[in-house]
Amino acid sequence: MPFLGLGVVRATLTLSEVEDQISSYLEQNETVAARSLPEVGCAVACGFLAFTLPKRLSYPDSPTYEFQESRYWSQQQALTRPSCRFAPASAQEVSLAVLTSRVTQCKFAVKSGGHAAFSGASNINNGLTIDLINLNKITLSADQKQTSVGAGNVWYDVYTYLQPKGLTTIGGRVSAIGVGGLTLGGGISFFSSRYGWACDNVNTFEVVFADGTIRDVSYSSAYKDLYWALRGGGNNFGIVTRFDLATYPQGNLWAGAKTFIYTPETEAAVNNAFYHLAINSPSDPDGQIIIAYAYAQAQGVFVIATDLQHATPVANPPIFENFTSIPGAVADTLRVTDLAGLTLEFNATNPGGFRQTYWTYTVGNDPDLMSEMVAIYMDEVNKIKDAPGLVPSAVYQPITTGMTKQFSKNGGNPLGLAGQGPLNGRSQAPLYTFMLLLLTLLLVVNIAISWSNAADEERVLAAGKNMVDRSVAAAKARGLDHPYLYQNYASQQQNIFPSYGSDNYAKLKAISAKYDPARVWQKLQPGYFKLG
Ligand SMILES: Cc1cc2nc3c(=O)[nH]c(=O)nc-3n(C[C@H](O)[C@H](O)[C@H](O)COP(=O)(O)OP(=O)(O)OC[C@H]3O[C@@H](n4cnc5c(N)ncnc54)[C@H](O)[C@@H]3O)c2cc1C
Ligand SMILES: *[C@@H]1O[C@H](CO)[C@@H](O)[C@H](O)[C@H]1NC(C)=O
Ligand SMILES: *[C@@H]1O[C@H](CO)[C@@H](O)[C@H](O)[C@H]1NC(C)=O
Ligand SMILES: *[C@@H]1O[C@H](CO)[C@@H](O)[C@H](O)[C@H]1NC(C)=O
Repeated sequence: MPFLGLGVVRATLTLSEVEDQISSYLEQNETVAARSLPEVGCAVACGFLAFTLPKRLSYPDSPTYEFQESRYWSQQQALTRPSCRFAPASAQEVSLAVLTSRVTQCKFAVKSGGHAAFSGASNINNGLTIDLINLNKITLSADQKQTSVGAGNVWYDVYTYLQPKGLTTIGGRVSAIGVGGLTLGGGISFFSSRYGWACDNVNTFEVVFADGTIRDVSYSSAYKDLYWALRGGGNNFGIVTRFDLATYPQGNLWAGAKTFIYTPETEAAVNNAFYHLAINSPSDPDGQIIIAYAYAQAQGVFVIATDLQHATPVANPPIFENFTSIPGAVADTLRVTDLAGLTLEFNATNPGGFRQTYWTYTVGNDPDLMSEMVAIYMDEVNKIKDAPGLVPSAVYQPITTGMTKQFSKNGGNPLGLAGQGPLNGRSQAPLYTFMLLLLTLLLVVNIAISWSNAADEERVLAAGKNMVDRSVAAAKARGLDHPYLYQNYASQQQNIFPSYGSDNYAKLKAISAKYDPARVWQKLQPGYFKLG
């Protein structure tokens, strides 16, 4: 038994080899063996991993465990307490953890940047949390066209590595977001109108399969179908240990936020600017925007933040003319900045440690619908505005034709939006609606609410759900609804995969059945959005 207790794992083991290892561990350890499986599954899994790789395993109340628990963005996830945390430093060690879970039936969760909001997404009560924090390598290829990124990195690490070389990858807009979750759900970056979403810019995924094998999954590999599924399939297809990311030249940006106190006039101007930018986006794919309606509880006023980002260091590009001409901003951070610095600014406006809920829906781009959605948002906020620490926002982003064009790169992704700009995916549209479809672009909405006390959870979540349901109904009444739900913005109450379209949904289930007939990624890893 040379492998046991050495503190290193040099080879990938098979399921039956791990079974033997665990049996012999139990023979040596009367304390664990005295109890019976599966009740003590996690005691055995944690004990075995601690015995085998002592430096990687931590128990509650130890500094390592508590440090890792502090690295979740939402309070709901940070208050989730696994039996132990395992922080593998190689794909082989990840593989060992998966097979250990299979043998012991100890359920697990996987964490990259820990920014998914709801409990259980990347942490698990009384289970095994696999924290990818030690998979932190970043290397650039000799031709500077590909960056290989360990799955435990956050985007700030990637950007600060590439920035001095005049390069970037397509990733998150907030420094502390993980490479893992963002990429597997889609991933909207500052540069997506030019290059597509993060998932469209992965050349190769290094993946630990359910049987413990470690394989490179790319468009040109034997696992082309799995490559497609991973680009939006979330945590349903394996644990990705390394992402090989397409890498592009990138210098400084002109970016920042102009913020206004809400008035009906400002709302009209912002909504008009948003509507036209979505349409005019193809004329300048370097320009992107995010607009956020929010409520400042201390002052009792609604505010509107217009986040503008241009991928060149040139001030006031014409694509933003309708935004930059809006008078009366109370704050303005627009400036020439480096990418990493910009992601720090966004990180500072999204502090951790609070209770959080995220919701999403997708609708057609239309200024009248937009003002209806804003009114619904305000009405629902008014019902909960006394909740201590409440920071509710409704965030709107165009899904530009520049983005969706890239959705068919390398065999496409499963999101169901490829080639789309105009609304479609709707059956039996009458002629008038059909004409509208040709003209209507999509926008993705993120309802993001943070607050302080667990006692308010139910009513805050109800307000989030009402914002979605009422807005979707308003969109339907105008023929501007769309089924797509963006996984990275979705609530635990939303059903993501059917929203990709029935063909893609069926294809995803078939690929899952092919590579994981035992349904390890769903049954032993119960958290987050599950296929089927
Ligand atoms: C402040 C903030 C800003 C955001 N900004 C953006 C943005 O600019 N663009 C955008 O598109 N989205 C954005 N999001 C949404 C973000 O993409 C999701 O929250 C995403 O899930 C976060 O990824 P993570 O790795 O940090 O999260 P985690 O909570 O670590 O992971 C999320 C899920 O992915 C799974 N997972 C993570 N890594 C792996 C892996 N290597 N293999 C298998 N499964 C894995 C986890 O098990 C978990 O179920 C933002 C979210 C927040 C809170
Ligand atoms: C045996 O298991 C117990 C409980 O998990 C643990 O405290 C002890 O350290 C283990 N001993 C060995 C040799 O692994
Ligand atoms: C600005 O808005 C006007 C309508 O008010 C529109 O015609 C024009 O195309 C918009 N410009 C841009 C760059 O979106
Ligand atoms: C992001 O902000 C949090 C505070 O909410 C801070 O603890 C963390 O260090 C920041 N991370 C990065 C990478 O900027």
